[in-house]
Amino acid sequence: MKIDPWSSTTYQDYARLRDEFGIQEFSEDLWSDLPHPHRLLRRGVVFGHRDFETIREAILKKKSWAILTGLMPSGRMHLGHKMVIDEVLYYQSLGADIFIAVADIEAYATRGYSLEETKHLAMNEYIANYIALGLDPKRSHFYFQSKHQDVKDLAFLLGKKVNWSQMVATYGFGGSTNMAHIFSPLVQTGDILHVQLENYGGIRPTLVPVGVDQDPHIRLSRDIAQAHRLYNVTMTKDDKIGVFVKVDTNVKELLDAAEKTLHTLQFTDLKRITDYKAIYINTAKENDVLSIDEALAHIEPSFHGYGFLQPSSTYHRFITGLTGEKMSSSKPESAIFLTDTPQEAEKKIMNAKTGGAVSLQEQRKTGGKPDECVIYELFLYHLIEDDNELKGIYMSCTKGELMCGICKKRAAEQMERLLLDLQEKRKKATKQIQEVLREHYS
Ligand code: TRP
Ligand code: SF4
Repeated sequence: MKIDPWSSTTYQDYARLRDEFGIQEFSEDLWSDLPHPHRLLRRGVVFGHRDFETIREAILKKKSWAILTGLMPSGRMHLGHKMVIDEVLYYQSLGADIFIAVADIEAYATRGYSLEETKHLAMNEYIANYIALGLDPKRSHFYFQSKHQDVKDLAFLLGKKVNWSQMVATYGFGGSTNMAHIFSPLVQTGDILHVQLENYGGIRPTLVPVGVDQDPHIRLSRDIAQAHRLYNVTMTKDDKIGVFVKVDTNVKELLDAAEKTLHTLQFTDLKRITDYKAIYINTAKENDVLSIDEALAHIEPSFHGYGFLQPSSTYHRFITGLTGEKMSSSKPESAIFLTDTPQEAEKKIMNAKTGGAVSLQEQRKTGGKPDECVIYELFLYHLIEDDNELKGIYMSCTKGELMCGICKKRAAEQMERLLLDLQEKRKKATKQIQEVLREHYS
């Protein structure tokens, strides 16, 4: 199985996907002691992660950390896109430094948009809605890929440590794939890692919240981050921690510097073997690996390294379209767009595929199936904040007390409130949009 970030298929079996790609389960112990956990975390919509522990620790210990995510300005923004922004807003309230890439290079390279078109889409659709959803451009960093010199430079430079075979294995590229498309995952890697450059906040934990279709890009970014490190920190066979220098220049100096840092971390029982380019720590335990690695990363810039920490990620499920397939801007009847009028949304909701039985009579007898119902998904993902209220719907549906007609009406009403609120806020955002644009697109 391969995950293709540019295909339009949706996934049925997230657990299998997780196992196959070595994604970790986003289990309750990861989020339950975070401040006021977001509904998308509580309800299992975010189902997987890589290295979220690092982020959790940064949150709990109030260390500096960053979020970088991006959206491709192609088509109109719908409820599926809203999820990432909802997550970002939550993490911002927990102290994350927020970066949002407008992936115009990717839209150009993979979807055939001109940069001029993506500019209009980004401005009128995406940035307008981000601001309406509550992202404050003054407290977050928006940028366009095509206008960000450091991101583009990084994309080019980081390409040094990935080869064609890896790209083919990861993305299935072939002889007819255009070069801009081939390069676009490196631009995304540039997006993800640039927040650890000194000018953008320096080496620190970074979270990339995305849909699972983006996992190939995450793996690439993590591999590239690792490949550029000068130190490697691992457990050895005999249960020690080994610190290894991966390069052949400045080996002695790098070992000296590592030794000094290990001492300040209170590791004193060290065995250095310069010929092996190694230091062994006799007293360290497995859960010290990450903190040692992070401390050593900070040494690397003084030796012309980046010291990038591997970025962490979380993965959310896709919201099902109202027609039962993937929610997609190319199928307007499947999607509720953030710029839909309440009437348009209502019509789509009333026509939606539910988990209801064939007749009212039947449904009173057997109950509905909320787990297979897109209306219930709307409540779960977007419309109902209170867990007990949501549970109430679930129960009365399965018991056959709630009928789909009434349920849809309720969804339509709540959707109306959400859409009108956004409409109002988009109007107010016009000036801010112009400012973002003036600042980043000149
Ligand atoms: N590839 C993403 C998409 O298709 C957009 C994107 C660009 C992105 N750069 C990113 C996502 C960095 C996460 C992080 O929507
Ligand atoms: Fe879905 Fe509501 Fe019908 Fe249950 S009653 S199947 S939740 S629309």
